[in-house]
Amino acid sequence: MKILVTGAGGQLGRSLPAALLAHDVTALARVELDIADLARVRAAVAAHAPAVVVNAAAWNRVDDAESERDQAFRANALGPRNLALAAAECGAALLHVSTDYVFDGELGRPYDEFDRPEPRSVYGASKLAGENLVRETNPRHWIVRTAWVFHEEGQNFLRTMLRLAASAAELRVVNDQIGSPTYAPHLATGIARLIDSGAFGTYHIAGAGQASWHELTCALLARRGIDKKVVPVSTAEFPRPAPRPRFSALVSHMDPRIELPPWQDGLAAFCARL
Ligand SMILES: NC(=O)c1ccc[n+]([C@@H]2O[C@H](COP(=O)([O-])OP(=O)(O)OC[C@H]3O[C@@H](n4cnc5c(N)ncnc54)[C@H](OP(=O)(O)O)[C@@H]3O)[C@@H](O)[C@H]2O)c1
Repeated sequence: MKILVTGAGGQLGRSLPAALLAHDVTALARVELDIADLARVRAAVAAHAPAVVVNAAAWNRVDDAESERDQAFRANALGPRNLALAAAECGAALLHVSTDYVFDGELGRPYDEFDRPEPRSVYGASKLAGENLVRETNPRHWIVRTAWVFHEEGQNFLRTMLRLAASAAELRVVNDQIGSPTYAPHLATGIARLIDSGAFGTYHIAGAGQASWHELTCALLARRGIDKKVVPVSTAEFPRPAPRPRFSALVSHMDPRIELPPWQDGLAAFCARL
């Protein structure tokens, strides 16, 4: 199958070609295709004539989105709408990736695909708008919600913690936000399985299990053999511009259920490849 990947320079984008080896993949980074530019998106999709477009592009600066709403909606809402439209015009399907931050985190159990989104932040609202525009624009779609993505290259929480651990006397890390840490290559493999299933719909695909940021940091440092005090702090002690969900672990009740390895396996692979 011909597959066109957008956002190829990101954590997921760079993981997808290896997972989609069975297919004929073209991967375009932001400099090659800005998904917020409808004319260019239409031209690129028409030129490549893919059977499936996979959108790994997003504007993920959660805190900056509170003050730069236009940027967030341009990439996270208009972008996937443009891809959905261009794909529909060419008879292609679209796989779009969304986030656990579409949920408010107040449910008290992991979120499945039948739970109602209620974003708390501008970033979450922009991603939910993207989901809804994809649903309205191209019936042949998958929406994959994932969470807490990490990769040995790119910007992510784990790499930030390793950088801080190299210089700070101790780390202070939030212990009252719980989520599903997800290793980007594992997510890419799950996406490949979902595409091969041909079953459109909304799916949760994230690392199995759950952790707080504090727990994740302790596991990272232990695995790297770094002896550093990690002080648990509350969200209230660590104010950020964007509110985060308190408990946004993801589970799947869909068929097919795409299960990923436990996040600890992802962490092990991440550390092995650093
Ligand atoms: N990272 C997480 O923790 C997380 C959590 C939940 C869900 N997700 C979702 O998972 C997906 C993959 O995320 P990721 O972690 O791989 O993100 P990432 O590493 O930040 O990569 C996103 C890529 O999209 C590019 N991009 C931004 N705006 C664009 C535009 N208008 N046109 C084309 N490309 C654009 C970025 O380029 P520049 O770097 O040049 O801006 C970057 O290369 C996204 O849908 C994201 O919302 C991520």
